[in-house]
Amino acid sequence: MFGRIDHIGVAVEDLDAALELYRDRLDMREQHRETVEEFGVEAVLLELGDGHVELLRPLSDDTGVGRFIERHGPGFHHVAYGIDDIDDALEAARTAGLRLLDEEPRRGIRGSRVAFLHPKSTGGVLTELVEAAH
Ligand code: CO
Repeated sequence: MFGRIDHIGVAVEDLDAALELYRDRLDMREQHRETVEEFGVEAVLLELGDGHVELLRPLSDDTGVGRFIERHGPGFHHVAYGIDDIDDALEAARTAGLRLLDEEPRRGIRGSRVAFLHPKSTGGVLTELVEAAH
């Protein structure tokens, strides 16, 4: 079902402070920055080999990431697996009895198609499936 780890998502309150850590002190290259309206976040992708660290700053408290920070504080938010075909992967997840947060793919960063699995069915880890734009 899963091809590879595409990125890990980290919820942050302050993007500049997070970049000071990840880019300046941990020496990861800033590759892409985008406001993703679909999820109500400003996101920065940092390059790390074939994968990324995705920093997510909520645009308001009334977003998934905003509510996450309210409950848990900033920190690790989700793991994203890269897959070739998200429609097939969603069908496989459904067949495996996993609970889907997204019945249909949504538009993610950089024109990707993404869908989330409920952490209750993935051992407490919010899990994203991502099919890169072709
Ligand atoms: Co993500």
